[in-house]
Amino acid sequence: MKILVLNGSPKGKYSITLQTSLFIMRHFREHAFSVIHVGAQIKSLEKDFSKAKKMMEEADMILFSYPVYTFLVPAQLHRFIELMKEMQVDVKGKYAAQISTSKHFYDVTAHQFIIDNCKDLGLEYLEGLSADMDDLKNKKGQADALHFFQRILFDIAAERGQVLKPFTNLKDVVIVADLDADDENLKHMIDRFMENCTEKPKLVNIHDFQFKGGCISCFNCASTGTCIYKDGFQDLLRNEIQSGKAIVLAFTIKDHSMGYQFKLYDDRQFCNGHRTVTMGMPFGYLVSGRLSAEQNIQLLMQARAEVGGNYLAGIASDEYDLASSVDQMAASLSWAIENHYTKPANFYGVGGMKIFRDLIYEMQGLMRADYKFYKSHGQLDFPQKHKGRIAAMYLVGSLMKNKKLKSKMGNKMNEGMIAPYKKVLKK
Ligand SMILES: Cc1cc2nc3c(=O)[nH]c(=O)nc-3n(C[C@H](O)[C@H](O)[C@H](O)COP(=O)(O)O)c2cc1C
Repeated sequence: MKILVLNGSPKGKYSITLQTSLFIMRHFREHAFSVIHVGAQIKSLEKDFSKAKKMMEEADMILFSYPVYTFLVPAQLHRFIELMKEMQVDVKGKYAAQISTSKHFYDVTAHQFIIDNCKDLGLEYLEGLSADMDDLKNKKGQADALHFFQRILFDIAAERGQVLKPFTNLKDVVIVADLDADDENLKHMIDRFMENCTEKPKLVNIHDFQFKGGCISCFNCASTGTCIYKDGFQDLLRNEIQSGKAIVLAFTIKDHSMGYQFKLYDDRQFCNGHRTVTMGMPFGYLVSGRLSAEQNIQLLMQARAEVGGNYLAGIASDEYDLASSVDQMAASLSWAIENHYTKPANFYGVGGMKIFRDLIYEMQGLMRADYKFYKSHGQLDFPQKHKGRIAAMYLVGSLMKNKKLKSKMGNKMNEGMIAPYKKVLKK
């Protein structure tokens, strides 16, 4: 494929984000990558857009590569997108993906901005990688970047019908459904999912489960991890549901949520406290109803996966094309299980876990099971511990304050910042 990277960082070749794109380029040499520094060259692009237009129209995929700037993308990239529309660049049907770096502060709105504009331009949006600006310096960040691109290649193969079905590994999925006997559509969706599996996965129908009641916040579980209710829910959760390799939640939209029964299910999971016990297990959804009108449910599904450390492999709905929507989710889930796929957490995940981290730390005396879990999983990641980094920033800060030194520095600051990334690329 011809892949065109639109580097939206005003820092041009000194962009941290660009280093991730270059890292991917070096690993996938079978594809022809090229770069336009749209962020740094926006003024000249405003004068002459013809070369950029030609490059975009000749590409098979457009890869937006940019830093998150104030909830969205840098103004320069915004202007470039405006020009794409003004100049009627014909990119209809081409693939699109995005890579951003940031500190995850509202990276979600930036990503949605790109997704929405891809839709306007008729681009076929595939995937996004929202990396922390430090990610590429470590092994996990490097693996995440490569996995992200492999995922894109898988999506393209699936779209072209090059993925073999049914999937053997879907037998290890647990489907948790709130399935009423009269709910024909949801049943169709579950049946269709089953058709994608070589062996039927386990189906736990919580519609039939006799909950003795909702969580009453007695905090009995906080220290012992055990719920006071003796209705068997805790065993069902731990032995039948959390023991699978992936979870598919199936429901019909009711009262702008997953319905009362699923609310009981969610609240009673308080017996796990704030522990991310299903971390690493991919999630999928089968949703019956007008999902496109339910922004809050969509956010809920994303946020739940993010805070739990679960990759959201897909959300299938019966709103348009039930069969292809379910098949797509099944293929994606199978790939995620096969590849142990995880993605860096975004604003919902990073932000949510910072709130929990502070809460658990402060309430460690009461929430003992949570505290033990957070401690052993390195989730008490307070910045106060990064003493070397704090000291280094003081040093840079005082150098920047010195006018003489600052004028002599030139591009040294940018060069210094990307030096560790260049080292990774050299390797
Ligand atoms: C004007 C400006 C706005 C920024 N806004 C955000 C933001 O909203 N969220 C965030 O997490 N980081 C924000 N950042 C940090 C950058 O996203 C981050 O440093 C990024 O990795 C820089 O990438 P680059 O070197 O490719 O330009 C901002 C930085 C600048 C200069």
